[in-house]
Amino acid sequence: MLTFTIVKPDAVAAGHAGRILADLEGRGFRIRAMRMVRMTRREAEGFYAVHRERPFFGELTEFMSSGPAIVAVLERDDAAVAALRVAMGATNPADAEEGSIRARFGGSIGQNAIHGSDSEANAAIEIAYFFPAVELV
Ligand code: RTP
Ligand code: MG
Repeated sequence: MLTFTIVKPDAVAAGHAGRILADLEGRGFRIRAMRMVRMTRREAEGFYAVHRERPFFGELTEFMSSGPAIVAVLERDDAAVAALRVAMGATNPADAEEGSIRARFGGSIGQNAIHGSDSEANAAIEIAYFFPAVELV
């Protein structure tokens, strides 16, 4: 089963990308595809289009296009989507479970180190947004 993650610009800039990816591998995820991207504002707006009407949409898309991020397809034997959400922790790092990636590396609700798909359907959409099928080796 596949899911999709982004190591967000705050975590890449802080030098936490390697530890975040190692944490995910330690939790049974295999990296199936990975790429560093500097999203344009328009790409970030497309990726987070579901949040277009939210008050934080401008802040979110400005941040996601503010510097390099790492997009990756992750595979896990079971419950990939749910297991990634557990690994990430709550959206607000202040509420994130001890040991979770956001508790360890997230700075604020807006700059919270990692994105993970919230359903299998959205994982498929998000993977297709960044990776043509041919790149899945
Ligand atoms: P993500 O999509 O990035 O994995 O995060 P999530 O599912 O935990 O949270 P979601 O509700 O999908 O929100 C997407 C991102 O928007 C930012 N946000 N800011 N200022 C705010 O109140 C606020 N609320 C959400 C967060 O960076 C969140 O990751
Ligand atoms: Mg989300």
